Amino acid sequence: MRLIIALSTAATLAAAAAVNQKRAALDDCLLDAGVPTSTPGTTDWTIDAHAFNQRLKYTPAAIAAPTTIEHVRLAVECAVQVGGVKVTAKSGGHSYASFGLGGEDGHLVVQLDRMDEVELDTETGIATVQAGARLGHVATVLIEEGRDFSHGTCPGVGVSGHTLHGGFGFSSHTHGLALDWAVGATVVLANGTIVEASTTENPSLFWALRGAGSNFGIVVTWRFRTFVVPETVTAFEVNLPQWRTNATTLAKGLAELQDWLASGGMPKEMNMRLLGNGFQVQLQGLYHGDSEGMRAALAPLLPRLGTGVNATGVREYDWMGGFRHYAYSAQIDVRRPHRQAETFYAKSLVTGALPEDVLQRVAEYWVTKPATAARGRSWYVLIDMYGGPNSAITQVPKDETSYAYRDPQKHLFLYQFNDGSFFGQYPANGFEFLDGWVKTFTDGLWEDWGMYINYADPRLERERAQEVYYRESLPRLRQLKKQLDPDELFYYPQAIKPAE
Ligand SMILES: Cc1cc2nc3c(=O)[nH]c(=O)nc-3n(C[C@H](O)[C@H](O)[C@H](O)COP(=O)(O)OP(=O)(O)OC[C@H]3O[C@@H](n4cnc5c(N)ncnc54)[C@H](O)[C@@H]3O)c2cc1C
Ligand SMILES: *[C@@H]1O[C@H](CO)[C@@H](O)[C@H](O)[C@H]1NC(C)=O
Ligand SMILES: *[C@@H]1O[C@H](CO)[C@@H](O)[C@H](O)[C@H]1NC(C)=O
Ligand SMILES: *[C@@H]1O[C@H](CO)[C@@H](O)[C@H](O)[C@H]1NC(C)=O
Repeated sequence: MRLIIALSTAATLAAAAAVNQKRAALDDCLLDAGVPTSTPGTTDWTIDAHAFNQRLKYTPAAIAAPTTIEHVRLAVECAVQVGGVKVTAKSGGHSYASFGLGGEDGHLVVQLDRMDEVELDTETGIATVQAGARLGHVATVLIEEGRDFSHGTCPGVGVSGHTLHGGFGFSSHTHGLALDWAVGATVVLANGTIVEASTTENPSLFWALRGAGSNFGIVVTWRFRTFVVPETVTAFEVNLPQWRTNATTLAKGLAELQDWLASGGMPKEMNMRLLGNGFQVQLQGLYHGDSEGMRAALAPLLPRLGTGVNATGVREYDWMGGFRHYAYSAQIDVRRPHRQAETFYAKSLVTGALPEDVLQRVAEYWVTKPATAARGRSWYVLIDMYGGPNSAITQVPKDETSYAYRDPQKHLFLYQFNDGSFFGQYPANGFEFLDGWVKTFTDGLWEDWGMYINYADPRLERERAQEVYYRESLPRLRQLKKQLDPDELFYYPQAIKPAE
């Protein structure tokens, strides 16, 4: 017994010594190359190693803190030179699975948020955005010229992680995903070269970046098209209190909503989601136009959702007012240092219209289960009115980007299921709450559904994760991974495997 302990202690010590040696070699290389780094024990390290999801904290082997593109390239070269160290780009650090830290210990993390300049060419409307910028800062700069592109709601989210894997928000039904506005990227590849990617330069890489970008290199600069923002947008809510407690009412309401969306009832200017939590069920929306237009757009829907149902909290805003309304943050122009934290588990889905039996099971789970399975925690579900015939997302041809969800009918809804702890730890028996809920959908849908890696679920096994995130795009993505990064320098536990 004592011998076994002594032997395993020796093995642990030897492994720790090897890790320390690798760490020292990496530090030396970065220092020699003149790449700025964050040093363990400093405030910079604490900020750069911070995990948005406190359930998933990881310790990097080293943190590069580049301020130039050449720094990023040299950092990648150091990892290759030292060998056996995985490289991970971190921009806004808002990955649900802490994939910006590599999703495990021991990565070389390249923290990009010291590079967050945004510049707009007013002639062409093309914005040049450094990869470490956050959405709130990007919007703040672009609105000075009355412009923006389509993106999500949270000002602290990094433009890079967001755009590389989708980017859905209150402009997406009208204008598409963030990745639909990207027209070019400058990328550091695994072999240490810097290349341009666009529809005319390295088009396969550009295809892969727009949907599965974290697997193929480090984007250092983006180029985005922008649109002229509307003068007025209108925010509103529709409260549906009966939906929270009565499964029959909820199932019937969801059926009406999906029929309205699938049949083209939702005009292009409307952007809307259904929120459910322990206190309420409500539609939340942002109409691109004035309140009169908003009321006209909702008029055919409201009577279908129950008697006396109407919009409340109707407010007209300018563009940034609309952004602020759903930002849930006092600060909009977010730049480094930024440290937000939650402790939670989340899952996602993308589905078409749900058959009646699935709707019934989903509704029953929703109405009954949280009281026991999520007691004392803070859960919510968001169902984005994502597709349908008028959605800008589903008007993009499906093979234009590697992002997999472009069918107006098969990709009607994008869901986020989120379950957080108020204090400290997420309980080990907590996971079954969301696992069980998602299963009530997928059990009745064969393989006709997907998941969204921007709401990553790190408990999915690697093979399965690749399938459900990338669906039809996966074979081509695996070929490209083999070509561009055969040794998996850019690796995390759910990263794309190179083709055999
Ligand atoms: C509070 C909050 C609100 C959100 N709201 C929305 C929303 O409204 N709509 C929506 O669609 N999503 C939303 N998300 C999800 C968000 O889009 C994703 O988590 C996104 O990946 C975060 O990007 P990041 O740069 O902040 O994250 P990071 O953790 O830095 O990176 C995420 C992934 O991208 C990779 N990556 C980052 N930068 C680069 C780069 N330059 N080159 C290559 N790979 C890179 C990382 O390695 C990692 O795998 C939200 C998330 C949070 C926490
Ligand atoms: C690196 O990879 C790219 C893309 O495959 C290729 O074009 C380039 O020649 C490679 N550079 C080196 C130095 O091998
Ligand atoms: C739910 O609502 C339906 C239709 O309004 C009603 O017939 C039924 O009794 C309600 N069920 C419960 C459990 O309240
Ligand atoms: C909703 O409220 C508005 C403003 O008060 C009113 O004009 C409209 O008729 C109402 N619609 C319904 C369906 O009750």
